[in-house]
Amino acid sequence: MSLLKQLNLSNLPNHIAIIMDGNGRWAKKKGLLRNLGHQGGAKTVREIVEVCAEINVKYLTLYAFSTENWNRPKLEVDLLMKLLISSLKKELKTLQKNNIKLVTIGNIDSLPTKVSAELKDVVEKTKNNSRLTLTLALSYSSREELIKTIKEISLKVKNNLISPENIDESVINNHLYTRNLPDVDLLIRTSGEQRISNFLLWQIAYAELYFTETLWPDFNKENLFKAILNYQNRERRFGKTSEQVK
Ligand code: FPP
Repeated sequence: MSLLKQLNLSNLPNHIAIIMDGNGRWAKKKGLLRNLGHQGGAKTVREIVEVCAEINVKYLTLYAFSTENWNRPKLEVDLLMKLLISSLKKELKTLQKNNIKLVTIGNIDSLPTKVSAELKDVVEKTKNNSRLTLTLALSYSSREELIKTIKEISLKVKNNLISPENIDESVINNHLYTRNLPDVDLLIRTSGEQRISNFLLWQIAYAELYFTETLWPDFNKENLFKAILNYQNRERRFGKTSEQVK
């Protein structure tokens, strides 16, 4: 039976987040420049976004560029930014046709003006779409997001807009970049690395983690179905006992 047929479509993860890793190693293995790995990675992005829309996953969040990635050689960063602009220009039509909303998280204003302008344009044009919310994490750091959140809430406390005893999970949630997104259900990382790398630390509190050796440019819809099947065979207890959740 095909993997798609084995999926329980009424128990899909509502929010999938992916750490897309291994573009460089994929290129190296093939004797290509790293940048061609990123181009291969962009093709995978397209396939995975399309399939998530088809099977009705509602939220997909992709770690496209971390704040730490600014430390890469300037040429690689420049080419990644160019790839981002050209992908956005090329895919706007597909996003509209498939009713996909693009949103961003991260310090978008730290990106080159051309990139942030293109992003803002696509975000604005797709803001009323509702089939799938595609979130790109760009110049993103989870710790930075938490610091920003703490500063904003502290300021509100100082100005008597919130009292400290009323600070709860929903107050924190409402100050994060992800304020309009639900918690992550399934976090996937490709390329064999088993770490979180400063991605959505608060939001993955109850997520199921799935690591695969497959390098991101080789990751395809069958790999995604495998990850979802694996997720569906786990028991999510949220701190309760097995008997309680049955
Ligand atoms: C990790 O591989 C990948 C990145 C840092 C960039 C991700 C970018 C893309 C998939 C391309 C464009 C994205 C969009 C949204 C169109 P790596 O370079 O860290 O690989 P390595 O660990 O093997 O060196």
